Amino acid sequence: MRLGIIGGSGVYDLDGLEDAAWTTVGTPWGDPSDSILTGRLGGIDMAFLPRHGRGHVHAPAEVPYRANIDALKRLGVTDLVSVSACGSFREEMAPGDFVIVDQFIDRTVARPASFFGTGCVAHVSLAHPTCPRLSAAAAAAARAAGVRVHEGGTYLAMEGPQFSTRAESLMYRDAWGADVIGMTNMPEARLAREAEICYASVAMVTDYDCWHPDHDAVDVAAVVATLGANAASARALVAGLPGQLGPDRPPCPHGCDRALEHAIITAPGA
Ligand code: ADE
Repeated sequence: MRLGIIGGSGVYDLDGLEDAAWTTVGTPWGDPSDSILTGRLGGIDMAFLPRHGRGHVHAPAEVPYRANIDALKRLGVTDLVSVSACGSFREEMAPGDFVIVDQFIDRTVARPASFFGTGCVAHVSLAHPTCPRLSAAAAAAARAAGVRVHEGGTYLAMEGPQFSTRAESLMYRDAWGADVIGMTNMPEARLAREAEICYASVAMVTDYDCWHPDHDAVDVAAVVATLGANAASARALVAGLPGQLGPDRPPCPHGCDRALEHAIITAPGA
């Protein structure tokens, strides 16, 4: 197994890796967000990619999602944990809490979202877009790191880069039933499934977006104020993941790693 980590806002590197090295990986989809930090942690091969690049240079819509997933696949990543900041639509999902996302509503509009198309058409299932086995390990590692964890939650992926209007925020919460909101998990989750990589999403709550009567509307200062503590918890979570997963990796019981088996519809040789 090789465990991949995509770090979001505030998480730009990993510590404690043995034989750590930043590796440049090219792909047919262009360059990934940055070089990839490889090494070993707790006996497991690791690959870490900062989603926005070191220095936070890629806006959410400009992240090269296809290159990122392809580069991690080329390095042998079988299981991928996405770490990202998010706003919360639920009182009980408070800043500092981590939500282990299990569903998405995709409101992104301007991002290449598939590896497939003319020449080879495929339709993978996204009914269950995250891997329950990997998500359970991430939840256990977060809990062991002392974080308050919510297992399960619907993540509204918005295009950004502006934050939501209050009308949107209320609609996502009340009419659509979203629990958290962010700008980056889509199309990342779609592409991980197409690449047959088990995917788990750890959404770190930084704010209450703009619906909460007792809290100011989100701004970058509010996000950054919570990011520091969240990033420290995220590092502790990652440090505990190898222990939760163990060295052996039986095939995914949910089939994430065989997602293409019945998904390609183009006739061979067509
Ligand atoms: N990232 C962190 N907080 C957010 C919010 N309220 N909306 C979108 N993305 C976010």
